[in-house]
Amino acid sequence: MSFNFKKLLGEQTSTISNRLKKTTINLGVGDPEFRVPKKEIINLVKKIENKKISYTNPSGIINLKKKISKKYNNLNLSFKNIIITPGGKTGIFFSFLMLGEKGKEVIIPDIGFPTYLSLARYTGMKVKNYKLNEKNFFKPLAKDIISLISKKTKFILINSPHNPTSSVMDDLEMKKLAMYLKNKNIYLVSDEIYSDLIFKEKKYKSFGQFKFLHKKLIIINGWSKNYGMTGWRMGWSYWPNKFIKSLELMCLNSFTSPNMVSQKLVEKIILNKTYVKSHIKQLKKNRDYIFKKYKNLNSIIPEGAIYLFLKIPKNFKSDHSFCEFFFKKFNIAIVPGSSFGKTANRYVRVNFSKKLSNVEKFIKNYLKINA
Ligand SMILES: Cc1ncc(COP(=O)(O)O)c(C=O)c1O
Repeated sequence: MSFNFKKLLGEQTSTISNRLKKTTINLGVGDPEFRVPKKEIINLVKKIENKKISYTNPSGIINLKKKISKKYNNLNLSFKNIIITPGGKTGIFFSFLMLGEKGKEVIIPDIGFPTYLSLARYTGMKVKNYKLNEKNFFKPLAKDIISLISKKTKFILINSPHNPTSSVMDDLEMKKLAMYLKNKNIYLVSDEIYSDLIFKEKKYKSFGQFKFLHKKLIIINGWSKNYGMTGWRMGWSYWPNKFIKSLELMCLNSFTSPNMVSQKLVEKIILNKTYVKSHIKQLKKNRDYIFKKYKNLNSIIPEGAIYLFLKIPKNFKSDHSFCEFFFKKFNIAIVPGSSFGKTANRYVRVNFSKKLSNVEKFIKNYLKINA
């Protein structure tokens, strides 16, 4: 198999990303505002023995894998089927490397995280898109996905909670898709990187809940979003048995082992529920405050993740010109919707987890322009 690196696409997180100033209010980057408590980091640094900072097992520290398995104990994920990677994105990359096959088809969301399309092009697979639209609150529907399946379908990619729309797939739709796939020879890659950041009454149910899918399921997850640890580059993924040996070698051959210090930090805090809970509470509070105070906001109410996905006013030529206008006039950076697919070219993505006064500065100006 020869993949084509010329087909890779650059992730365009902002029209103005390389022009950001120190004073710019950056609501563009997909980085949650919250951080791991500093005392945890200081304690770790104090305790860690310098001469013991070294490589680890290529696919990560076993005890950390066991703790992941414990955290998600209702899913029955054996620690032996988990690999730790530098960020969740490596898990996505490995999915395309392991499953990618020229002449086969992959089904991905449009609107969606740009890496999916880029890697699909890289592998030479034919891309089929299921559309996410505002009429349906940007939620994926099983019937739309199933209608795209053919004999050539190798895998389907779901991302819920969703970047950039912050929608969450409904339980019933998950069940319908899982039941359909039960007897099919098709893999499901479920990118659940925002899994803890849920504001619905019920918690997010991972596709891991369907035990009968475990032989064809890859779960992508990590700590960048859920724990506010983007800079620590820590992700994990769950894989069926048949891939584990090759993945161990893939880890060894690409990054040797994940960063040991980052793994040690996660090992310490992964089961600390209060830390994550307090962040989710704060995020939900901000979301509720925003939607109560600014009733004319042209956005669905996020059910998870950290983004407002807003329609741009009619008098702007494009999402890019709208972002450019906000940057030049207000020194605020946001992301054009078309970075996530052409159909999103009348939208922008705004990170609402950032300092509330800054988010409000954006919203007030957005509403003034819209009035
Ligand atoms: C949907 C989605 N998946 C995966 C990732 C990758 O996360 P990480 O920073 O852990 O590599 C991101 C990051 O923006 C994302 O939005």
